[in-house]
Amino acid sequence: MKEIDELYGIATEAASASYSPYSHFRVGAALVAEDGSVITGTNVENRSFGLTICAERSALVAAVAAGHRRFVKLVISTPDADYAVSPCGACRQVLSEFMGPEAQVFFGSRVDNIVATTIGELFPHDALHELRGAS
Ligand code: THU
Repeated sequence: MKEIDELYGIATEAASASYSPYSHFRVGAALVAEDGSVITGTNVENRSFGLTICAERSALVAAVAAGHRRFVKLVISTPDADYAVSPCGACRQVLSEFMGPEAQVFFGSRVDNIVATTIGELFPHDALHELRGAS
């Protein structure tokens, strides 16, 4: 399994492909599947602002489309911020479909401010847990 600083580098590299002409806020995500595969994503904005797709969901849908179903780790890089930025509420819900409460999440704007947490901490009291399809 790759180390967090290496995954953070991969997430930061993914942020360089960000399409964010409106916010100028690049986000990169590196998602680690159960088998150790690393899938990346970045934020893709739209001139109809509400249609923007965050880096986390971008990575997740690419990974599921590639055949992965369960993920153990997510590393997020926000190189344009001066503080660590956690996943938005919508992403927390979507991530919880394919990541259990124990899955690890790391987010930071630099290697020296990375916050380590879990899906369970970011998305507690998951009311729809029993409806989740991916086991
Ligand atoms: N964004 C993400 O991609 N992930 C986050 O966790 C926070 C926000 C994106 C959405 C938008 O393109 C830009 O960052 C500013 O909100």
